[in-house]
Amino acid sequence: MVSAADTRRTTSPEDTEALAAALAPSLAEGDLVSLVGPLGAGKTRFAAGLARGLGAGGRVRSPSFTLVNEYGGGRAMLFHIDLYRLDSPQARSLGLEEMRQRGIVVVEWGDRLPSSDRSDALELAFALEGESERTIVARGYGSRGRELVKCWRSIGAGKGA
Ligand SMILES: Nc1ncnc2c1ncn2[C@@H]1O[C@H](COP(=O)(O)OP(=O)(O)OP(=O)(O)O)[C@@H](O)[C@H]1O
Ligand SMILES: [Mg+2]
Repeated sequence: MVSAADTRRTTSPEDTEALAAALAPSLAEGDLVSLVGPLGAGKTRFAAGLARGLGAGGRVRSPSFTLVNEYGGGRAMLFHIDLYRLDSPQARSLGLEEMRQRGIVVVEWGDRLPSSDRSDALELAFALEGESERTIVARGYGSRGRELVKCWRSIGAGKGA
């Protein structure tokens, strides 16, 4: 069930980054954030905001070709995965569990993960509402996912839809 409290609206890329940066303090090693939504929805911008919010260095770019980008130097390691070009056997062999042991994992096109990998995760579904408007709806899987939805509801940046 989608509730208005779980929906955020952003009106610029900076706004989307700020929302992600505000979520970052709630994240801990082992957490998985799955970003879903169409091309150009803002998933990479969101990942950049998470890296900034964690205090990680380095420029965040789409990991489409490298498969996984790692951002260190912050409060926790951030692993940034993009599944757009991967099929599901490849997605299974990424070593997700090992990454979760070492840090926080954010996955673009996370709906392409095997469902067993999404059983304890925060899913954020992006939709394009206009040239610079996006809505982002949170959904929690498992107990940790539900806890992170509560964190999402309580963050101050961005506006409720
Ligand atoms: N409110 C907004 N939030 C995020 N990006 C926005 C917003 N408004 C406009 N944009 C623009 O939309 C684009 C989002 O690009 P981004 O690479 O983050 O999307 P993506 O979801 O990662 O796409 P892909 O599926 O191709 O990886 C950027 O060009 C950004 O400037
Ligand atoms: Mg992207």
